[in-house]
Amino acid sequence: PWLVAVCAGLSGCTSPQSALDPAGVEAQSVATLFWVMLVGAVLIWVAVIGLSVFATKIRPGAYGEKAGLRLIIWGGCVFPVVVLTALLVWGLQMMPVLRAEANGPTIAVSAERFWWRVAYDVEGESGVARSLPEGGVPSANEIWLPVGQRSEFLIGSPDVIHSLWIPSIAGKMDAIPGRVNRLVVEPTKPGVYNGVCAEFCGDAHAQMALRVVVVSPEEYDAYVARQSEPASVGAEDEGFRRFMENGCDACHTVRGTAANGRVGPDLTHLASRRTIAAGTLPMSPENLATFVGFTHRVKPGVQMPGYGMLAEDEIAAIAGWLETLQ
Ligand code: CUA
Repeated sequence: PWLVAVCAGLSGCTSPQSALDPAGVEAQSVATLFWVMLVGAVLIWVAVIGLSVFATKIRPGAYGEKAGLRLIIWGGCVFPVVVLTALLVWGLQMMPVLRAEANGPTIAVSAERFWWRVAYDVEGESGVARSLPEGGVPSANEIWLPVGQRSEFLIGSPDVIHSLWIPSIAGKMDAIPGRVNRLVVEPTKPGVYNGVCAEFCGDAHAQMALRVVVVSPEEYDAYVARQSEPASVGAEDEGFRRFMENGCDACHTVRGTAANGRVGPDLTHLASRRTIAAGTLPMSPENLATFVGFTHRVKPGVQMPGYGMLAEDEIAAIAGWLETLQ
């Protein structure tokens, strides 16, 4: 019964972040490998324990002089060689499937302490390793993917090693400064999934998450088209004025305005995302105000300075304006 309980616990709950509840081709093969190896290992474990118990019950020499030698040759050499070879061949023939050519969009993902720079439909890989994807449609901390297509991530980092892991869709891929790693993913089920940074990278490593939104190819195209448009901002907007006055534009871009900093996340369509601070808080005006005012309480070690010294109504004005960036 305990084994049934463990298996039910591992497989029973559907989760947006589980390698055992796959929603992608690669995650599916990882899950299949896991279950085959788990069942095989349990069978072998039961057989070994059974033989050990059996060995305590027999008299020496009961099965003839050569019995021990035969057991060692067949049970200790031939059996493991056959099983391990079969697993190796099976695993190797799975790999070309995972390395197949992409037929969907190319998306640059730069892992930076402690958020994800994203650019859709980039040309080439020249900028990714320096963390500034060239061309493309910039966004952050949320990746949209078309279902049923093989999309390709170009993954880099400007600072330390991170690792992009979207357990429901694919295995991990490291983001290494100075080089571009490729990961082809093929989501099979529309939905919203969680991704995480899977390589310790500093204080806010645990708060370096992202959302992955899998939609139909038409919805994907419409989304990227919306993201490529500039924000509509009135220059007389109070929140925007405060945003510029306090120098937020030194790090953040809001396309369509004079704010064109490249250090932090592009905020042009900030409020269209599901979370703020890289998957840390749900998107809401209150949480935006909390993050602007108490940045380091939300996310220790983050590069953005907190603006707790500003008056409450000033923070509220900035947060209220950010909320309009749909
Ligand atoms: Cu980035 Cu851990």
